[in-house]
Amino acid sequence: SEKKLWGGRFSQPMAQFTEEFGASVGYDQRLYRYDIIGSIAHCRMLARQGIIHDVECDMIVSGLENIMLEINSGEFEFQVSLEDVHMNIEKRLIDLIGPVGGKLHTGRSRNDQVALDSRLFLRDAVKEILQRLQQLQTALLEQAEEHRETVMPGYTHLQTAQPVLLAHHLLAYFEMFDRDAQRFDEILSRVNILPLGAGALAGTTFNIDRHWVAQELGFDGVSRNSLDTVSDRDAFIEICSAASLVMMHLSRLSEEFILWSSSEFQFVHLSDGYCTGSSIMPQKRNPDMSELVRGKTGRVYGNLMALLTVMKGLPLAYNKDMQEDKEPLFDTIDTVVGSLRIYAEMIRTATFNHQRMAQAAGAGFSTATDLADYLVRGGLPFRQAHEVVGKMVAHCEREKTDLPDLTLEQMQRFSDVIKEDIFDYITVEKSVAARNSYGGTSHQQVEQQLSAIRQRPEFT
Ligand code: ARG
Repeated sequence: SEKKLWGGRFSQPMAQFTEEFGASVGYDQRLYRYDIIGSIAHCRMLARQGIIHDVECDMIVSGLENIMLEINSGEFEFQVSLEDVHMNIEKRLIDLIGPVGGKLHTGRSRNDQVALDSRLFLRDAVKEILQRLQQLQTALLEQAEEHRETVMPGYTHLQTAQPVLLAHHLLAYFEMFDRDAQRFDEILSRVNILPLGAGALAGTTFNIDRHWVAQELGFDGVSRNSLDTVSDRDAFIEICSAASLVMMHLSRLSEEFILWSSSEFQFVHLSDGYCTGSSIMPQKRNPDMSELVRGKTGRVYGNLMALLTVMKGLPLAYNKDMQEDKEPLFDTIDTVVGSLRIYAEMIRTATFNHQRMAQAAGAGFSTATDLADYLVRGGLPFRQAHEVVGKMVAHCEREKTDLPDLTLEQMQRFSDVIKEDIFDYITVEKSVAARNSYGGTSHQQVEQQLSAIRQRPEFT
C-alpha cells in the first residue's frame, strides 16, 4: 500500500479492507479534469501572491498538465490506497516533479478542493441538462406544429372529457420542461460560486486571493462563510430535486405513450428504435424505452432521498459522510441526461395516428359540455342545462346512439331552447374552436402559443 500523504502521525498501516471501504477513487476519478483545472488556478494564484516562486509554479503547472494527458490517454493508474482522485493526482505530481509538488496544497484543504471540483463538475452537468431539455422542447414544438389540426380526446380520470388539439396536449409538456429549465437556470446561479479558499473549515493563514481564482475559473462570486462552504451540499440536493421533477414529467409522458401505443388506443406509433420484441410472442412490439424511463424515475427519487438523509444531522463542518454525495449525484445526472436524450429522439420520430385520435375524440359524448353551454346561452341556468344534457346522454346510451345523431325533434323533447343551429355546436371541430379563452385549446389560442414560443431566441 502507498505511503499516505497524511502519514506523519501514524505508526500502523491501514488494513486493506479499510482502505477499500474508505476510498472514493472508484467513482470520484470522474472529477479528474476539474481537479487539475482547479489546482492549476490555485497554483497560479499562489505564485501571483508570492506564496510560491514562479519557477515552482511552472513546474507544478506542467506536471499537472502531464497528468491530465496521462489520464486522458488511459495510462494513469488510480490507486485505491491513495483514497480519492485528489490524492492520486497530488501523489503523482510529487513523483513526477519531486518535493516541490508538495507545495501545491499550500493554503488549501481537500475539503475546499472537493467542493471546488464538484461545483466545476455541476456547472457543466447543469449546462448539459439545459441543452437536452431544449432539444426535447424543440421536438415537442415541432410535433405540435405538425399537429395543429389534429384533434384527440382530452381526459380527466382517464375518461373522455372534452376534445382538444394534439398540439395543445404536446405543448402542455413543453410548459413542464420550460419550468424545469427555469429551475436549472436558477440552480446554476447558486452553483457558480467559488468555494476554494475556505481551507479545511476556517480559512487560511496565507494571503490568498480568492477573487482572482474566481475570475480565472469563471465563477460569478466567492462564498462568504468558510464553515458553510466546506459543508454545503445544497446544490447537489437541488439538482436531484429538479431532476426528480424532470423525471416525473418524463414518467407521465411515458405512461401516456405506453397507453397510446397499445392496440386498444393506437394513437401513436413509436419508431422501431425505441421498441423491442418479445422472445416468445411474435406479434409484440413493446414500448421499452418509455417503460424504462418511467422506472428510472424511481432511482432519481431515491437519490434525492439518499442525499437528504446523508446530510441530515451533520454538524459543521466537513464530515466524511459527505463522501457519500457523489454516487447519487452522478447517477442522477447520467439518468436524467440519458432519459432526455432518448425522449427528444423518440418524440421527433413518433407518428401520431390522427384518424384514430379524431375518431376517439368524437366518442364518449365528448361534446356534451358544448350542448350544455348552448342551453345556457339560450337562457337556462348552467345547473339545469347540465341536468337536461345528462338525461339526453342517458337516452342515447339506452338507444345505443350518439348526441349528434339525434334528430332535432328528438332533442327538442328534452328542451325547447334547442334550435336548428344546434348541430353547428356539437361537432368535435366546433367544440375545439369554441374553447377560445386564453390558454384554451382553440386553434387560435394554440397558434398564439406556438408563435410566442417561436419568438423566443432559443426556439427560432
Ligand atoms: N474524498 C473526499 C470526499 O469525497 C474528499 C474530501 C476529504 N476530506 C477529508 N478531510 N477526509 O469528500
